[in-house]
Formats: sequence, structure tokens, C-alpha cells
Amino acid sequence: MKKIVTLPGDGIGPEIMEAALNILEVASVGKFDYQIEEHAIGGDAIDSKGHPFPEITREACLKSDAILLGAIGGPKWEQAENTPEMGLLQMRKALGLFSNLRPIQLNETLINRSPLKAEIVKGTDMLIVRELTGGLYFGEPKWEQEDEALDTTHYTRKEVERIIHLAFQQAQNRKKHLTSVDKANVLSTSRLWRRIVNEIAPQYPDVRVEHLYIDAASMKLVTNPTDFDVVVTANLFGDILSDEASVITGSLGMMPSASLNEDGLGLYEPIHGSAPDIAGKNLANPMSMIYSITMMLRTSFEEFALAEKIEKAAETVMARGVMSKDMGGNESTESFTQAVITELRK
Ligand code: NAD
Ligand code: IPM
Ligand code: MN
Repeated sequence: MKKIVTLPGDGIGPEIMEAALNILEVASVGKFDYQIEEHAIGGDAIDSKGHPFPEITREACLKSDAILLGAIGGPKWEQAENTPEMGLLQMRKALGLFSNLRPIQLNETLINRSPLKAEIVKGTDMLIVRELTGGLYFGEPKWEQEDEALDTTHYTRKEVERIIHLAFQQAQNRKKHLTSVDKANVLSTSRLWRRIVNEIAPQYPDVRVEHLYIDAASMKLVTNPTDFDVVVTANLFGDILSDEASVITGSLGMMPSASLNEDGLGLYEPIHGSAPDIAGKNLANPMSMIYSITMMLRTSFEEFALAEKIEKAAETVMARGVMSKDMGGNESTESFTQAVITELRK
């Protein structure tokens, strides 16, 4: 029996969590045995426990076999002393989730849902490997005054090496092309990063390595998305590049991710946020959470057939034009989820 900790969070987080869990429940009957333990995170945890990443949530995560997170944040908690976003970062640090894998795969049957031209996006299949527990997000010193503020970008050799090795290994299992994205023409941390990539490259002779500056990479991502296989980059660059890359698929609401630590513990979450503009309206696209669950099934539990079955049902439904508003469809979160469940029961 696998123990899955769920952290629904804020805004659309609980809506897409419920939808995706309903689908998992129907799909797993007789195939996959699991138990769910729900805990609070983000604004929800500030309200109920007085802290965005409570101790009880941390302990449950550490004892789990995998973690599913919805989304955190919202206007209600923007002025909090300890914001939901700080809680999310504390969680990543506490669990050692240093690598964040963000796949961007274009579903061919939905090619005309992309705002980009079909001939540009056709065949897009990349994996953004984002460093998640270092860089500008965590560097010290860090302070804020009325008229002055400071953030620090800091990386150690160990932090860079482990994410670069992971990216090379991912590339070996894919199209054997690694693009490292940095700002080595300006930043010292990027020069360290680039040096380490070049040092490690000979250990993976079958992988072709390329370096791009973040500005040029941002352009190339939408003009030549099929030139990318695995992209490895620092925390902030990866955050921005992955939201940009999401438009290739049609919507940010399609994008899942996996965050892994050195012991193989995995946390799976959409790359998007709590979407306050549509929260509570039954409008959210649950695909990001559904794909997060199928990433969990494959990566943490090696349940390949079950993951395939869920994706096939959802993609069959979408191929019929049944999808949420962000993808140009007319379905609500619930009606789309119901359509997937009906497909699974066929
Ligand atoms: P967002 O990702 O929440 O939303 C950006 C846009 O995408 C919005 O128009 C939203 O409606 C749309 N969108 C996102 N997910 C969607 C889905 N599943 N279906 C349909 N449309 C979807 O970004 P934001 O508005 O800049 O941030 C809102 C809050 O979320 C902030 O508090 C932010 O800090 C937080 N946030 C949290 C996470 C996380 O939990 N990992 C990630 C990003 C942002
Ligand atoms: C994400 C989010 C977070 C990040 C925020 C909410 C702290 O944008 O998960 O991509 O920047 O990492
Ligand atoms: Mn982000």
C-alpha cells in the first residue's frame, strides 16, 4: 500500500486536486493500492495552523512514498509575515527537492490549440530541468528596507554538479542533446555553472552539449522549440523559461512537474499557481494535475500501464474537442473530469 500525501493548497489547487484524485481512484481499481493523507500548505495552512509549511505537514511528507501538491498563494496572504510562497520554498529546502523536471510535450491532436504556428511547434518534446533549492531564491544575504533591498545569487560546486549529472542522465534516456542555459557573459554563478557542465560532459560522451545565454534561449524557445531536448538551468531562469514554454502546448494549465530529492522522494505539482482570477469558478484545467499524477505513477511507483491508461483516456476526450476554456473548449473542471471518467469506464 503506497502512502501519498496530498497538499491541495489555495485557489484552484483544491479544485484540480479533487478532479485528478477522482480520476486516479476510478483508474486504479484492482490495479494500484494507495492511501491518501491530506495536509495543509500555503495560505490554507496559515489560516488553519498559523504557518505556511507546518511541522505536521513536513513530518507527513518525509514519511510518505510520494507527494502531490496543488498550488499555493493568493492576494489574501500577500502581506503575511511568512507568505505561502515562503512556505513553498521552505518545503522544497526541507525535503531537499533540488531537481524540478518540467516536460513540455506537444500533443499532436491539439496542435491547433497552440497560439504558435503549427509548423513551428510540431514535434516539440523537451524537458526543462530546473535547479530548485539554490540560486537567487535562497542566496544570503537577503534583506528588504524601505528604499533599498538585496538578493544574492549563490551556487556551490556540489549544487551545480548534482543537477548537471541528473540532466545528463535524462538526456541519455531521451534524444541525447543537452542545452545548458545561463548568463555566463555577466554572472559569476553562470560562469561556474558553465565550467562545471564542460567538466562533466566527457563522462557522457553520447550526449551533445550546447550552451545558450538565457536571453537568446528565450527567443529560440518559441521560434525553434523542436531544437531542444533537455534544457538545464538555474532556479529563476527555469521558473521563467518553463512558463514561457507552456504556451507551446496551448495553456499553462496543461503543465505538470516532478521535484526529486537525492533519496528519490518525489513531489509532483503543476507548474502554474493558484490562479486567483478563476479560482472557485469551476474553470480550472485539471490536466496539469492529472499529468502530475501520471508523472508520479511512472517516476515513484513504476506504474507505467496505469499512467498510460489515464493519459490515453484524457487525451482521447480532448481529441474530441472536449476541454476546458483555457484550451479553447467549453468544459468546466467538473464536466471535463466526468468525461475522462466516462472514457475510463468504457
Ligand atoms: P498563475 O499560474 O496562478 O496564473 C497565470 C494565468 O494562468 C492566470 O490567468 C490563470 O488563470 C491561468 N491558469 C493557471 N493555471 C490554470 C489552469 N489549471 N487552468 C486554467 N488556467 C490556468 O500565476 P499568477 O496569477 O501569477 O499567480 C497567482 C498566485 O499563485 C501567486 O500567489 C503566486 O505566487 C502563486 N504561484 C504558486 C505556484 C505554486 O504553487 N507552485 C506557482 C506559480 C505561482
Ligand atoms: C513555481 C512558482 C514558485 C517559484 C513561486 C510561487 C515561489 O512560480 O513553482 O514555478 O517561483 O518557484
Ligand atoms: Mn513559476
